[in-house]
Amino acid sequence: KTINVAVVVGSLRKDSVNRKAALALAKLAPAHLALNIVEIGDLALYDEDVEAAGTPEPWARFREEIRASDAVLFVTPEYNRSVPGALKNAIDVGSRPYGKAAWSGKPAAIMSLSPGALGAFGANHHLRQSLVFLNMPVLQQPEAYVGGAFTLFDETGELVEESTRTFFAGFIRAFADWIDRTAVQPA
Ligand code: FNR
Repeated sequence: KTINVAVVVGSLRKDSVNRKAALALAKLAPAHLALNIVEIGDLALYDEDVEAAGTPEPWARFREEIRASDAVLFVTPEYNRSVPGALKNAIDVGSRPYGKAAWSGKPAAIMSLSPGALGAFGANHHLRQSLVFLNMPVLQQPEAYVGGAFTLFDETGELVEESTRTFFAGFIRAFADWIDRTAVQPA
C-alpha cells in the first residue's frame, strides 16, 4: 500500500536548498512512499482570537493535509540557531484545536540543511522538542545535519555527489522502515 508522507519545508524562498533536498528525497524514496510538499507560506500567524472568530481557510487546508498523511518529513534550515518562524507557526497551526492536533501519532523524520558547517543542528534539535509534545515518534538514526548545502545541487536541482545521493537514499529508506514499525495501525 502507498504510504503518504507530508513534507513540510521550513523555508519559504523559491531557491531554497531545503526545498531542493525535499524534492531530491522524493525522487530517491522507495516506490511505496509518496512524498508531497505541504505548503506553509500562506498560514497567518496563529492567534486564538482569530480561531474563535472562524478558522481561516488556509489553516483548515493545512490541518486536513497533515491529517490525511501517514507520516511527516520535516526539511528545514536554521534561523538564529533555531526553527524558522514560518515552520514553528505551521506546527502551532497544526496543533490546534487543543486535543485535536493533526500531528498526533504520525511518524516523523527531520533533515536539516545549512550552507554553514553545522548543518542546522540547532533547528533540528529544537524541532525535536516540539515533536515530543506533539506525540510524534521521530526517527533517531541516521541523523541528518547537512552542511555545505550550497554546493550540493546543480542548477537543475540534482544532487551533484554520489556520496550525498547515497546518504539521502539511506535516510529516506530508514524513514520508510521507521514508518512501518511505528505507524498506528487502523483498528
Ligand atoms: C539564517 N541562516 C543561518 N544559518 C545557520 O546555519 N544558522 C543560523 O542560525 C542561521 N540564521 C539565519 C537567520 C535568518 C533570519 C536567515 C534569513 C538566515 C542562513 C541560512 O542557513 C541560509 O539562508 C539558508 O540558505 C536557508 O535555507 P534555504 O532557504 O536555502 O532552504
